[in-house]
Amino acid sequence: PPPQKNKASQPFGPCKGCTEVIDNAVQRYSQTWKKQEDNYQNFRSKLSNECFGLEEAIITQTSKRVGSKIVFNGVRKTLQVTPQLSSIFAKKNPFSNKTWDTCAVVGNGGILTNSSCGNVIDSAQFVIRCNLPPVDNGYGKHVGVKTDLVTANPSIFTQNYEALTGRRRPFVKRLHTYGNSLLLLPAFSYTSDTDVSLRAFYTIEESDSPIRPVFLNPEYFQSLLLFWRSQGLYKGQLSTGITMVSLALELCKDVHLYGFWPFSTHPFSFHNLTNHYFDNKQPKFIVHAMPTEFELLLQLHSQGVLRLHLGDCQ
Ligand code: CTP
Repeated sequence: PPPQKNKASQPFGPCKGCTEVIDNAVQRYSQTWKKQEDNYQNFRSKLSNECFGLEEAIITQTSKRVGSKIVFNGVRKTLQVTPQLSSIFAKKNPFSNKTWDTCAVVGNGGILTNSSCGNVIDSAQFVIRCNLPPVDNGYGKHVGVKTDLVTANPSIFTQNYEALTGRRRPFVKRLHTYGNSLLLLPAFSYTSDTDVSLRAFYTIEESDSPIRPVFLNPEYFQSLLLFWRSQGLYKGQLSTGITMVSLALELCKDVHLYGFWPFSTHPFSFHNLTNHYFDNKQPKFIVHAMPTEFELLLQLHSQGVLRLHLGDCQ
């Protein structure tokens, strides 16, 4: 659709000058997109050389041997790898020497509501989703169902699954919707995340779920944070969304983003949006710098490094 003046747009939460950001985003998005192979290769090699996602993103039994230490995010706290802890780490790195032609990273933005983007998302070879989002009950038409990797921020266990201290059936039922995908658990980002994430792991082990739990390496997360600081993200912790986009840029030749729009008005039809396509829980603005993250993703879109999708798919 042609760019229009987007006077009504507001961000979710406080964001100085966001109306301008949104107007500007719509203008830039509306220019014809073309992949710029050189820009993609340059960005990807900078990312790989600084963060080593293919080798480092997932903790394995060889990357973290018994007796070594896991360092939690930004604090001096460490956890020694015991034989028992090591036994739940991946035996093999699921990403080493692997690349995919097309990946879809699906953010949870309300912009996906009624987008009819399900089929195009499902046509990607590798589909990444964030924070155990629903893909059943009619959502599939708009967000797809294919899932190769899904993340589970430990706060989701606390908010939605009673911290996995009570009945675990609703959690296991949700996991079934992702088939045998990888479940990425950031269990060692903060010390408070570990126990609940380990409960998730043990629940899966005792259930009939084919999902494959793996653990995010906090050192990879820290190097990503430094990387994005050098790109202009001066504040906030990285959101799950930008973390997964970073991983996808190492894993995949063509990276497509859906559901990334941290603003409360639709960019083209201007109707009000909920924060998520499945609820209107407000974002953690104190934790993440969502509008700045979005600006950086939009820059990559304009440079032809990845492709952001903001419109409906039919
Ligand atoms: N997202 C977005 N616009 C929205 C909602 C979400 O761009 N309106 C993207 C963000 O990149 C976000 C991701 O989709 O990280 C997943 O959404 P959500 O589950 O809301 O993530 P957060 O609550 O930010 O949780 P986290 O702390 O795990 O990042």
